[in-house]
Amino acid sequence: MSKDIYYPNPELFPNARIPDMDSYYKLVDEFKNDYEGTWAKFADEKIDWFKPYEKVLDESNAPFYKWFSGGELNVAYQCVDRHLSSKKNKAAIIFEGDNGDQRVLTYRELSYEVNKTANMFKNNFGVKKGDRVVIYMPMIPESAVVMLACAKIGAIHSVVFGGFSAEALRDRIIDAGAKLVVTADGAFRKGKPYMLKPVVDKALEEGCESVEHVCIVERNGEDIEWIEGRDYSYNELIKSQSPKCEPEPMEAEEPLFLLYTSGSTGKPKGVQHSQAGYILWAQMTMEWVFDIQDNDTFWCTADIGWITGHTYIVYGPLACGATTVMFEGVPTFPDAGRCWKMVEEYQINQFYTAPTAIRLLHKMGADEPSKYDLSSLRVLGTVGEPIDPPAWKWYYEAVGGSRCSIVDTYWQTETGGHMISPIPSATPIKPACATFPLPGIEAEIIEEDGTPTPVGEKGFMCITKPWPSMIRTIWNDPDRFVKSYFSDCKKDGKAVYFTGDGAMMDEDGYITITGRTDDVINVSGHRMGTAEVEAAIKKHPNVAAVAVVGKPHEIKGEGIFAYVVLKSVPVSQKDEVADDLETIKEINAIIKEEIGAIALCDGMAFVPDLPKTRSGKIMRRILRSIVKGEPITQDTSTLEDPTIVPTIEEIVKGLY
Ligand code: WT7
Repeated sequence: MSKDIYYPNPELFPNARIPDMDSYYKLVDEFKNDYEGTWAKFADEKIDWFKPYEKVLDESNAPFYKWFSGGELNVAYQCVDRHLSSKKNKAAIIFEGDNGDQRVLTYRELSYEVNKTANMFKNNFGVKKGDRVVIYMPMIPESAVVMLACAKIGAIHSVVFGGFSAEALRDRIIDAGAKLVVTADGAFRKGKPYMLKPVVDKALEEGCESVEHVCIVERNGEDIEWIEGRDYSYNELIKSQSPKCEPEPMEAEEPLFLLYTSGSTGKPKGVQHSQAGYILWAQMTMEWVFDIQDNDTFWCTADIGWITGHTYIVYGPLACGATTVMFEGVPTFPDAGRCWKMVEEYQINQFYTAPTAIRLLHKMGADEPSKYDLSSLRVLGTVGEPIDPPAWKWYYEAVGGSRCSIVDTYWQTETGGHMISPIPSATPIKPACATFPLPGIEAEIIEEDGTPTPVGEKGFMCITKPWPSMIRTIWNDPDRFVKSYFSDCKKDGKAVYFTGDGAMMDEDGYITITGRTDDVINVSGHRMGTAEVEAAIKKHPNVAAVAVVGKPHEIKGEGIFAYVVLKSVPVSQKDEVADDLETIKEINAIIKEEIGAIALCDGMAFVPDLPKTRSGKIMRRILRSIVKGEPITQDTSTLEDPTIVPTIEEIVKGLY
């Protein structure tokens, strides 16, 4: 076994559900020996069913798998109502604003707010079971309240990250056919107000006929426009609502929410999740991976606009009856000690963030953690992209005091919850390694035909058995669902779920994720489709062709790099640099408008042409190698014009 291995500190985990590797293997075997029976055991134990299910797993219409068919439940009931008898005065949500303002919602208060909001949606906006509600909100407790209110009445929510532009928001509203949009005037970031409502106004200017109303939560109090008959104040309407609302009984497989994510074509995919399977796994992974205990305070720094925020700020912690922290601000404001100050103040037990934040905090304040009492911490989590060993070491030593377990959790929007992760109480960890599949998850590294990839070699990261919290379909596009996830890899002749990631296993069976194998890049732990960014850049009138690739970035992990062919001249020559800068500015303005600031390019090269095969296919691998400064190993003789490669290399070298 490799020397660089870290063992859990058993004193930190006296009540662990999986206390050691023996228990882990036992549970893995239990699932192997009786897959459906073991899932059923957990479903019976964890979920408050209104009506028992008839079938654990229905594979008759694969890959449209069904879990717990016939069963009825309500996810808001599971997350709130059922805790009222034992935890009514326990903090459910602790909120800290950007400027340090604090608010605590107990389970009783949360239930009041959720019920009043649910009644408002029904009475004032006519929202019914199955209707879609788009949520474009900042990180405030009302966002969780609104999500749960939708769940309570069986409406399907689609949260759109607040950093997306009006265009991106519009696409998602139209695709979902949303009836109601819930937003806020804006919120605060780095001590200053920023706005959301004007973005909604702009999005609704065109093509959003399905939208009947906009409901606006007040957060920053800035002036906004009100459209008579369409726009309503949440804060006004909430006053007259009844705090009682019966949960809508939901069939296990009815959609709970949609969450749009990037794929390899321009159009984002509406990932559809279920009720029962989703909430079951959210709850189980909270217990296994975060060792959540009754008195714990759990903090996940993600935004609710991403799946991490859905599963590990809202649904997972609340289903467990835990206390979840919601933070409006950024980790570096007013200084790089903000997170550690909050850990000390709220006595956080589990802290969950992304490698990009860890790298930033390491760089900006390596000694900051030592100024605070971080002794409440037991588990440190990371998610979203591979974490590099130096960032891992700093997280382990400086933040975790070499006491805490680090869980490097590998999963995706589509998987609903963690797939591969250490169990903090059991798994000996290797830095920057996601380690082993969780019990119940058949994650395998295979070749396209299902043969296992040899140890030490890169293969396809597949999940070879359906699992309860898996994506059910792509909204409005079942064919794309099958094509995107169930057509690349087969095992025993049967299509299996392919994640889009490559992975490698070492001689001890540890799994390391090596990154995407498709045209998707991972910017600060967020998935960006290169096609989406290219489509935006092509809207510039002087752009003839463009290819976007990922470029290693010190903080973001990967940044966005664009090779642009212009219709008329300036190919970077000294006297035309000013012109280039103008074009770069214009292109970035278009990206900001079409997608949002998260997709801005970190670099751009104006090239005379792209390396294309004779059939016109762009050789992206060559472009990736060039931007990384790697030698070109690909055969360039099949290119239409092989001389273009050294030309592009020269131009890119000239940029740095
Ligand atoms: C992609 C999913 C899951 C919530 C955040 C992102 C990458 C995720 C890890 C990890 C290496 C990781 C994969 C995956 N990824 N976690 N621990 N180690 N890579 O969700 O936007 O759906 O992106 O993020 O490439 O496919 P997402």
